[in-house]
Amino acid sequence: MEVTIRFTLNRRPVTLRTDGDRTLLSVLRSDFDLTGAKYGCGVGLCGACTVIVGERAVRTCTKPITAVAGQEVLTVEGLAHDAALHPLQQAFIDHGAVQPTEKGALTQVYLGGITFELVVSPLRPGGSA
Ligand code: FES
Repeated sequence: MEVTIRFTLNRRPVTLRTDGDRTLLSVLRSDFDLTGAKYGCGVGLCGACTVIVGERAVRTCTKPITAVAGQEVLTVEGLAHDAALHPLQQAFIDHGAVQPTEKGALTQVYLGGITFELVVSPLRPGGSA
């Protein structure tokens, strides 16, 4: 069934009319050309598709697009701000982080996991500063 979804994507409000059964991963990659989140296992295990929704790391391959209505979604592309790379992105470049799988899934897993630990966790109660 077609639905209209509004959410914030990388700090910009977006509106999308689409099939409500689609996953967030499908929408990010196909509708917004944000390909940093990768399709790996497709069942929520590998983390290649991870983005931040609100203050939580979320596996987008199993997250229905309808679940992010009204939420803030931050992809790896959105880490850069005001034309400057996020320090984590710059560190990956500076240290020659490569995409060791054909689809680049491992780099996304590492960056997604690091992002959650360093950027998101300090915002949560009990998180380190
Ligand atoms: S593709 Fe593996 S967790 Fe989403």
